[in-house]
Amino acid sequence: KKLTVAVVGATGAVGREMLKTLHDRDFPATEVRAFASARSEGVKVPYGERELTVHELKEDVFDGVDMAIFSAGGATSQKFAPHAAHAGCVVVDNSAAWRMDERCPLVVPEVNPQALDAHQGIIANPNCSTIQMLVVLKPLHDAGKIRRVVVSTYQAVSGTGQKGMEELERQVRDLFNSRDPENKVYPYRIAFNVLPHIDVFLDNDYTKEEMKMVNETVKIFDDPTIKVTATCARVPVFYCHAESVNIETEKKITPKEARVMLSQAPGVRVFDNPRELMYPMPAYCVGEDATYVGRIREDESIANGLNLWIVADNVRKGAALNAVQIGEELLRRDLVRVRDKNVFLR
Ligand code: A2P
Repeated sequence: KKLTVAVVGATGAVGREMLKTLHDRDFPATEVRAFASARSEGVKVPYGERELTVHELKEDVFDGVDMAIFSAGGATSQKFAPHAAHAGCVVVDNSAAWRMDERCPLVVPEVNPQALDAHQGIIANPNCSTIQMLVVLKPLHDAGKIRRVVVSTYQAVSGTGQKGMEELERQVRDLFNSRDPENKVYPYRIAFNVLPHIDVFLDNDYTKEEMKMVNETVKIFDDPTIKVTATCARVPVFYCHAESVNIETEKKITPKEARVMLSQAPGVRVFDNPRELMYPMPAYCVGEDATYVGRIREDESIANGLNLWIVADNVRKGAALNAVQIGEELLRRDLVRVRDKNVFLR
């Protein structure tokens, strides 16, 4: 059966990983098309052993495309995803543009795949930090009902895209050569530094990244009662976000019970043995599909509390892999179609 898939933002850090993931997982596409900005017209990007020629994204490129995976920034998604849906092409969008739109399911396949059933043409991929946290919290929420989450993140520069990685590399090189490092991407030096600032600041003095974790958790768990508070920091690491997560549950869950539940949870790998110095770290989780959890221990300051340390590859599970898994779930549920093509564009 014919299945044409488009990758939008194919030259970017996530777009390239999307092509790799589609190929590595034998996604049953009969044709893959690559799109980016006009700057990239004619550029070649790898797809397995082959190369695809990148074409300029235009409003009319979605005719005959069944599914499009977007990772080209919020403005591009805002503008082009409605045109894709209008052409009958199902969009899986990695940007923040559609996540809180009531018409768009926000999906982590291990957590809320059923939300896909009501899709109207645009499906949102959650924020990288939210995805890895919820893959781990899902079984604990089911077992003990989480009341409150306190999370601090340690996020890699690849979350900013290719330009974030280039900035860290350039600054490290400049510092070793006694040159003044220039800040082009981040407001301050990222090399050998930590910035408590990801995305823009909002009126409540939280960053947009922090509020994404709060709002997306409520939507994905479909639970308006769950309380989340977040502090998001950028660290000089290329790949993988780490998170310190504290939860308070209604029903007590012991660390031992949590370890058993998590070792059976889809997409989760428990890596937790303090005596053997076993705990997940970004440098060792690069390229992995699983979300790693360790340092599972009781929060001794409250009655029903746990502390966890969660690490995942932000470009894979945090972006490309989760998007491709959504595509796989759409196929499994026979949902690769748009019922009403006029929902987003009239
Ligand atoms: P291009 O390489 O042509 O600029 P990253 O997140 O690594 O920075 O990648 C961003 C991706 O989004 C790139 O593939 C980039 O293409 C693409 N992109 C950025 N702006 C646009 C646009 N206006 N139209 C289409 N693609 C865009």
